[in-house]
Amino acid sequence: MSTPTKYLLQESQMPKFWYNIQADLPKPMPAVLHPGTMQPISPDDLAPLFPMSIIEQEVSTEREIEIPEAVREVFRLWRPSPLFRAHRLEQALGTPAKIFYKYEGVSPAGSHKPNSAIPQAFYNAQAGVRRLTTETGAGQWGSSLAMAGQIFGLDVTVYQVRVSYDQKPYRRALMETYGARCVASPSAETEYGRRVLAEHPDHPGSLGIAISEAVEIAAQREDTKYALGSVLNHVLLHQTIIGLEAMEQMQMADAWPDVVLACTGGGSNFAGLAFPFIGHGLRGGTAPRIVAVEPSACPSLTRGKYAYDFGDTAHLTPLTKMHTLGSTFTPPGFHAGGLRYHGMAPLVSHVRELGLMEAVAYNQVDCFAAGVAFARAEGIVPAPEANHAVKGAIEEALRCKREGKAETILFNLSGHGHFDMTAYQRYFAGDLKDESYDERELAQALSGLPSVPA
Ligand SMILES: Cc1ncc(COP(=O)(O)O)c(C=O)c1O
Repeated sequence: MSTPTKYLLQESQMPKFWYNIQADLPKPMPAVLHPGTMQPISPDDLAPLFPMSIIEQEVSTEREIEIPEAVREVFRLWRPSPLFRAHRLEQALGTPAKIFYKYEGVSPAGSHKPNSAIPQAFYNAQAGVRRLTTETGAGQWGSSLAMAGQIFGLDVTVYQVRVSYDQKPYRRALMETYGARCVASPSAETEYGRRVLAEHPDHPGSLGIAISEAVEIAAQREDTKYALGSVLNHVLLHQTIIGLEAMEQMQMADAWPDVVLACTGGGSNFAGLAFPFIGHGLRGGTAPRIVAVEPSACPSLTRGKYAYDFGDTAHLTPLTKMHTLGSTFTPPGFHAGGLRYHGMAPLVSHVRELGLMEAVAYNQVDCFAAGVAFARAEGIVPAPEANHAVKGAIEEALRCKREGKAETILFNLSGHGHFDMTAYQRYFAGDLKDESYDERELAQALSGLPSVPA
């Protein structure tokens, strides 16, 4: 019998607990600081924005946190997600490496984002919240929260980064199909949005600005809370279901990865796949190499500074220590909208500082070339964000070929690109350029980092 192509778990084998890497880290994370006092925040400081059950997850150091049955019931619509062996890509590359990918594009919204949208909507509904506000880049998170809001009876307003709002009109239609309202950011609906538009009427937007708008509205209304699609500890926690399933599936395949890769925007799909493997290593198990792949045009992990910074542009959020390009940095309008964030998750940044992972950056055109090669071999068209992980995996496979090594590579295919075909059209027409950021703007944004007493 030939080697299987996909490894499927039964619904009954879906993990019942999320994995919290904080329980296994050799050093705790730096404190989160209040922007006014510069002192560590208390859970109460976060209460205007999040329900207490989510705040408890944000600060928890318990290794395992139970996934509520009501959340698992919704997850059964698409989880457990498949693990594939990329036989055809291996052949196309002529590599002795074994390539596996975990495919998160099988969710109704087309990516890993519902893994956190569903629990966030559930906990908010449980706390009596009526409305959620959020930001979105490419629209994957916005459509995931729109779906989750519909399932748990919450109104959802999504502030979508202007450049992606214009590039991806069908994502907005999807959010509206799920019953949400989608507004281009910067918008005239918030004080901060109006301030940005007054200075730059054609501002392309950024995730930092969209977060400021969503937070401003949530902080003003008693019945409204805010939901974030990446970066925060609880979001990374929710995504660990990816890696926990993948560990089971690798065992089914009688294999174990030598290297694990994922793309990084705010860090959630990366942490989701990688943290359970890192934790396995920290507890004495076999530790794979862990590689984050980011865009050259927004390289927080490879070019950013590890420093305290704000999560948003209007400076409404607490200060966290993270790899950052500066909260006023506006990345160029490249097509992987979900990777256009100035900072990296504080937990991923901390793991990097502890030397438990590596990071590489690739440019947009090379990532699309990798995505097209993948689609031609495996059939699935990756989201532009996921193309970064594909590029990273192909580079590893080619290294194995050069070195004559039959290593096992595992990467996360975080979403499909069915709503991103305009970007592929532009790639085929030769119109897609490698966007690069302005070095002066980066220097300026970094010089504006807040000063925090040692
Ligand atoms: C398909 C896909 N992959 C990856 C990302 C990046 O986000 P994160 O780093 O939080 O996984 C996004 C964000 O929108 C996305 O849509």
